[in-house]
Amino acid sequence: MANTIIHSCPSLKLARERKETITSYEKIKISSYLKSHLKNKKYYIYTHGCQANYRDSEIYKGILNEIGYKPTLDIKKADLVLINTCAVRENAENKVLGEIGNLKVLKAKKDMVIIIAGCMAMEETLVDLLIKTFLHVDIILGTHDVAKLPSVLEEHLKTKKRIICVNSGSGYIHENLPSIRDYKFKAFVNIAYGCDKFCTYCIVPYTRGRERSRDPKDIINECKELTKKGYKEITLLGQNVDSYGKDLKKKYSFAKLLEEVAKLKMPRLTFLTSHPYDFSLDIIDVMKKYKNIEPYLHLPIQSGDDATLKLMGRKYDSKKYLSLVNEIKKKMPNIFLSTDIIVGFPNESKTAFNNTLKAVKKCQYDGAFTFIYSKRSGTPAAKMIDKISDKEKGMRFKELTTLLNKIIEKNNKKYLNNTYEVLVDSVSKNNPNALTGRLMNNKMINFEGDSNLVGKLVKVKVTSTHIHYLIGKLIK
Ligand code: 5AD
Ligand code: SF4
Repeated sequence: MANTIIHSCPSLKLARERKETITSYEKIKISSYLKSHLKNKKYYIYTHGCQANYRDSEIYKGILNEIGYKPTLDIKKADLVLINTCAVRENAENKVLGEIGNLKVLKAKKDMVIIIAGCMAMEETLVDLLIKTFLHVDIILGTHDVAKLPSVLEEHLKTKKRIICVNSGSGYIHENLPSIRDYKFKAFVNIAYGCDKFCTYCIVPYTRGRERSRDPKDIINECKELTKKGYKEITLLGQNVDSYGKDLKKKYSFAKLLEEVAKLKMPRLTFLTSHPYDFSLDIIDVMKKYKNIEPYLHLPIQSGDDATLKLMGRKYDSKKYLSLVNEIKKKMPNIFLSTDIIVGFPNESKTAFNNTLKAVKKCQYDGAFTFIYSKRSGTPAAKMIDKISDKEKGMRFKELTTLLNKIIEKNNKKYLNNTYEVLVDSVSKNNPNALTGRLMNNKMINFEGDSNLVGKLVKVKVTSTHIHYLIGKLIK
């Protein structure tokens, strides 16, 4: 520990405390020391987890670029490696721990600065483990400390000591940070940080802090800028977009924000993630009013069982969720509805699981992300005694995904032989002649085409379907 400088360590207790939000518009300063010492150095970033992490990585890239670093795709050539970590489930963490372990071998061959950032850095037990057993990690940087990257890097370079800089008290928004966006045609725009819902299984409110909404002016300016640059799609991001603005001094609703952004005429506008407790049907009214808002809604149910929902702290029951879905579908029959479901929450009975299956049948989802419950240290659910075996959980998971696949496959039939506008996303990973894109409702489609179409809007006719994507033919 003598070789470690601890500025601050994570505290789950402190993470729960609400503080007044302060927004800083100050530009980050890069010292002449950093500029002169790090010319022509290269960085490599691994990003795990959700879009919030990908957006943070874009900011890390922006800051490293201002310092003078250039990106490299070959980790062996990197002078700095940053791992932006995810803590939402144990398997994500294990993957990262494996990656950190592998870096030890690389670092023995080549001098490099290793930085662990993101959600795992916000966990007390994880930071403890990293400090004690991963001695080759040079800097641990918290999610609220992104802007401190230049100063901790400088401190590490000057002292050669490990630096731990993880503040858990949030209440802070930093505007105007530099960023290098991963795409030239689609962009993620944060509208709020953190989460106030504290679902009992979830680590996110601790790793990302209490909910802080950005000022609508700042969001709209960012979206205006992206529109001017010719971007084709904006995704407004928040852990719970529907509660946007509730914490602002001058209250502001998500429906209003969505409408203001839609008026900027970005060809495609969408948002993630909705919470059934805060979701308001005004949002659907706005979605119907503006043709450029994607008819796509991600509305996690998590469970279809009332006792489980209560234990999860979701603040709604199955009746409320199902009637909300009915209302939404009545107002917008063409909506693409997707969800998240957790299987094997502590002591989930067979009846409780069957209630989830029943709800899934009623909702007829177009897409779903399914997860086996993962115990997160420090959350209330981690203290619940769980007698359900892993084998049973695995069987339920399989039963649920089989049902969802059947529903999705049936829903896919409606696309067959129709032609849709597609935003081309990328060249397919498995076939260099195939492209992957999305319909206006976010449905994925693969088709043959030239890589210069990436980022463009094209017309594609659906020729066949697969459970998770459509297959189509480019219409010239
Ligand atoms: N175990 C399993 N899944 C989880 N999620 C969040 N926390 C956990 C956990 N401890 C899932 C929820 C959430 C999605 C992003 O991850 O379904 O909506
Ligand atoms: Fe986690 Fe619940 Fe917040 Fe979603 S709403 S981030 S599941 S606490």
